[in-house]
Amino acid sequence: MHVTVPVDLPGRAYDILIGPGVLDQAGALIAAMGGRKHVCILTDANVAPLHLAALQDALTADGLTAEALVLPAGEGTKSWRHLEQSVEWLLAQKVERGDVVVAFGGGVIGDLAGFAAAILRRGVRFVQIPTSLLAQVDSSVGGKTGINSPSGKNLIGAFHQPSLVLADTALLGTLPARDFLAGYGEVVKYGLLGDAAFFDWLEAEAPALARGDMDARVRAVQRSCEMKAEIVQRDETEQGDRALLNLGHTFCHALEAATGYSDRLLHGEGVAIGCALAFELSARLGLCSQEDPSRLRAHLREMGMKVDIRDIPGDLPDAEALLAMMGQDKKVKDGKLRFILARGIGAVFITSDVPREAVLAVLQDALRT
Ligand code: GLY
Repeated sequence: MHVTVPVDLPGRAYDILIGPGVLDQAGALIAAMGGRKHVCILTDANVAPLHLAALQDALTADGLTAEALVLPAGEGTKSWRHLEQSVEWLLAQKVERGDVVVAFGGGVIGDLAGFAAAILRRGVRFVQIPTSLLAQVDSSVGGKTGINSPSGKNLIGAFHQPSLVLADTALLGTLPARDFLAGYGEVVKYGLLGDAAFFDWLEAEAPALARGDMDARVRAVQRSCEMKAEIVQRDETEQGDRALLNLGHTFCHALEAATGYSDRLLHGEGVAIGCALAFELSARLGLCSQEDPSRLRAHLREMGMKVDIRDIPGDLPDAEALLAMMGQDKKVKDGKLRFILARGIGAVFITSDVPREAVLAVLQDALRT
């Protein structure tokens, strides 16, 4: 039992298959794509012991051979060093232009493997098999690939669409609760940015989803992927509307920088806090009612998530320093900043008309309360 979400890009169309057990179809689906019968898998040291044997069995059952490179888990792997290691390993495996590389892991492995596939022999096909909720609803879809630079996150990369995404929702069962909830931050983001009815549904069903209800998990991943696919089809390379997917991310980037990209704050946790701050800012600017940020905060609290800046453990810099860390200080024009703001739940827009003082005040209050 699975659902399929198509991503309809001209010449680069692909399907996202979502459901428990879709991993078992990996062999048949990849064999049908052509290329050599040898599949190279990039994965990490957390995923490999849990799920690599199942993937290799699925591939060999359909007459493929499979080799895996197991990289260290964690954001540090999105580096020049591990990109070089990955590309050289793929070359040693004699990957050819028609072959398929598999990214088997969370967002880090998906971004790194996708970028390695983009630059290897000027581009080989790759299949995303995301194992985290965050990767299933966001990073494995849409073709953003890349690594971090010492100068900042995701500064080196390419748009390179996968040829297939297999989101096996049964794999989510082995995620630590904190990682699952961090990924849920990205799910909430979709309700907030474009589908109020989905947000209503999440308020009712997300506690069951967190407890493991498989139908709810499939539905949440499906709706998130549908919304992402629709935006990516409209604006693949982020000339406009794709930036809506960055709701909450401007605040999130500052908080991630302030916590040194450490496990004090996971990306999805920062997205959830950032969405709450973006809604708070919108309410203060008179764009939406104060009820909207309050409702969002109540839902995140009910889910046991971090909601406010004060929920982040340890000291944080002051509001001025956080504003500078948004990377926005250089983009200020006539005292105005660029943000994704909301006219209500499910109705966000991009604006370059946010007074610097309003953002500062939101941050100052958030640090105080
Ligand atoms: N994660 C944002 C995007 O794919 O555009």
